[in-house]
Amino acid sequence: MSRSKLVVKGEKYDSSDRVRADRTDLLYSHIPEGETLVSIKDLNVTYRTDEKTTVAVDDFSFDIKKGELVSIVGPSGCGKSTILRCISGLLQPTSGEILIGGNKCTTAGSDRGMVFQDFALFPWRSVRKNVEFGLEIAGVPKEERQERSDRYLKAMGLSEFADSRIHELSGGMKQRVGIARAMIMHPAVILMDEPFGALDAQTRNILQESLVNVLKTSSRTIVFVTHSVDEALFLSDRVLVLSKRPATIHTVIDVPGERPRDRASPEFTKLRREILSYLESQNTL
Ligand SMILES: Nc1ncnc2c1ncn2[C@@H]1O[C@H](COP(=O)(O)OP(=O)(O)O)[C@@H](O)[C@H]1O
Ligand SMILES: [Mg+2]
Repeated sequence: MSRSKLVVKGEKYDSSDRVRADRTDLLYSHIPEGETLVSIKDLNVTYRTDEKTTVAVDDFSFDIKKGELVSIVGPSGCGKSTILRCISGLLQPTSGEILIGGNKCTTAGSDRGMVFQDFALFPWRSVRKNVEFGLEIAGVPKEERQERSDRYLKAMGLSEFADSRIHELSGGMKQRVGIARAMIMHPAVILMDEPFGALDAQTRNILQESLVNVLKTSSRTIVFVTHSVDEALFLSDRVLVLSKRPATIHTVIDVPGERPRDRASPEFTKLRREILSYLESQNTL
């Protein structure tokens, strides 16, 4: 892609406007941490097929604050991925709206970065080239790309594997690449849909710790969908507990304690037990 001219929604920006693609967090620098960044208003998503109509989400409203990690937990099929897809702009709600920094979002945009459960990496590129992909598209010069990828490869424990190919990596390492690739862009919001769902329990715990470490060095706004209550309590500032479909908000928990948290502490165990017992009550299987 040409570096000199990017066309965004019919307007032309030259390379001095690069901030739009590779530092979209700066678009919302006027919003203080702790204030609403993403606002979900009266969301309804109804899927219609020839055979049936499914109301996945109905009249759902929630605000996500700048700089927080919010987890969404709820029974399988309650609408978690649907909500995330609406925020990503990949799915249009049947009614209601999503505002980011007060602007209605109607399409996918570089202010929202995604981390996928199946990694979605480019197998023909090296680890470093995967991490730098978005910067390349944004026309960031090679030297800066290298400097930024060095930092994120290190933060995710991947420095030694910079030149490796994707097929040479374990699942846990692939997901580290996925996280580095999203974080390096400094998107205003990072969306993760069960990012550790394909990993074994031990690798999963290690990746959760890596994510906590990265967040210590720079604040990010993250919406994290998971079916693991333990994971949600370990990672999040707030946990949004949803009912069975169509998702309504059962509770919003302000998780106490600084990260990294002690999973065996009485407070942690008590919260986990409460949420799990609610989710069991909602299980329709
Ligand atoms: N593309 C689709 N077409 C029809 N129904 C769908 C589609 N995507 C999801 N659904 C249905 O919507 C409901 C919510 O799905 P989803 O958001 O994926 O739930 P979760 O991520 O919480 O498991 C489920 O009943 C699911 O079967
Ligand atoms: Mg899902």
